[in-house]
Amino acid sequence: MAGGILLNSIRGQLTVMARVLLLIPSRTYRTHDFMEAASRLGVEVVVGSEHRSALAALMEGRQLRLDFHDLERSTQRIVAFARDHPLNAVVAVDDTGTLLAASAAKALGLAHNPVDAVEAARDKARMRQRFQAAGLLTPGFRTVEAREDAAAVATTVRFPCVVKPLDLSGSQGVVKADALDTLPDVLARVRAIVAACQPDGVRSAVLVEDFIAGEEVAVEALLRGGELDLLAIFDKPDPLNGPFFEETIYVTPSRLTTERQAEIRDTTARAARALGLTDGPIHAELRINEGGIWMLELAARSIGGLCSRTLRFGSGISLEELILRHAADLPMPAHDRERSAAGVMMLPIATKGRLKAVAGQAEARKVAGVDGLVITIPPGEQLVPLPEGDRYLGFMFARAESPAAVEAALREAHAQLRIITDG
Ligand SMILES: Nc1ncnc2c1ncn2[C@@H]1O[C@H](COP(=O)(O)OP(=O)(O)O)[C@@H](O)[C@H]1O
Ligand SMILES: [Mg+2]
Repeated sequence: MAGGILLNSIRGQLTVMARVLLLIPSRTYRTHDFMEAASRLGVEVVVGSEHRSALAALMEGRQLRLDFHDLERSTQRIVAFARDHPLNAVVAVDDTGTLLAASAAKALGLAHNPVDAVEAARDKARMRQRFQAAGLLTPGFRTVEAREDAAAVATTVRFPCVVKPLDLSGSQGVVKADALDTLPDVLARVRAIVAACQPDGVRSAVLVEDFIAGEEVAVEALLRGGELDLLAIFDKPDPLNGPFFEETIYVTPSRLTTERQAEIRDTTARAARALGLTDGPIHAELRINEGGIWMLELAARSIGGLCSRTLRFGSGISLEELILRHAADLPMPAHDRERSAAGVMMLPIATKGRLKAVAGQAEARKVAGVDGLVITIPPGEQLVPLPEGDRYLGFMFARAESPAAVEAALREAHAQLRIITDG
């Protein structure tokens, strides 16, 4: 039983059982899919969480309370735990735990991303610097400190530009400014969003960068010992031209040419190398225009929300299962993405108000091709649109013969939904 590895026989197959520490932040959509993948793999899970949670309470000795931001102490705790309960991997299910996962994996001698690379991926300004230094096409940028005067800043940037927080996600606080006279208001709005996300309300720096027009794609991949294993390229067929950048539809396979897709893959691999990332999932966003392929960002985590449910590999393997297999060094089966086209719509929140109900769900589900609809905000809760909002109303999934049919199914089903609010 070296290294906490047990051998057991499930369905006549010899499988290897490993123990994995999952770092699960208090607010994440990803818990269920990772837990399910672990259970399917026969992997024992230890839950690392920041607060007491319903899940942690169920774990009976297989849970660790950890401050994800106190890397030193939390790494020590994990190492001490692993002395009695050897760990085969430390996996962050979402952005927040990626630094601690890298730090703990290093201390345990497991394959991991360098901590410094994860730090660069968590800070949009450092990420831009690294992309630029590597000669990648990436928007011109400058950071704007909290003390800087907005009117003065406005004279130093090109328009249109995008103002954004350094370390948020889901397009929260990302706002386009079209002209010099609008920049002070946009800057004030983004600064307020950033301050509201800090426990002490402190104002911190934000990023201002050139707006890059063009089509956008998202890339899902797994880094394995520095090699990029491309899992899927998603087209985003709804134009994202601002002023806010609400993501709606993701469809795979991409309708771009094979050559374009190869360039996107290569650009993503270069971007991962530029950051210094070597192992684990990555989620990248790129824009394509006549100037070439632009690196918008690359996160050292898998796709957010419930969007990974669009992906099935090999004989029905989930993205989370691939991530766990790689992290725990378990055998990696063939994992080409399934043949059908697939997609997700992140249900947009158009207006503010208290949610009463989402009507038309049964009708939406009946649309041919639609194979899932999950509303993730319970009735009674406040809906907050972007750029202030930080949650999706829900997720709708479709599968069909072609990407165009997937997109049409999602649009038709979405037209059946009515969001009823009061106030
Ligand atoms: N420089 C830019 N040019 C054009 N669009 C941008 C730019 N920066 C961000 N966007 C748009 O805003 C979205 C969210 O910005 P991003 O930097 O990816 O932040 P987040 O971490 O919140 O996803 C992007 O997917 C893109 O559509
Ligand atoms: Mg993004």
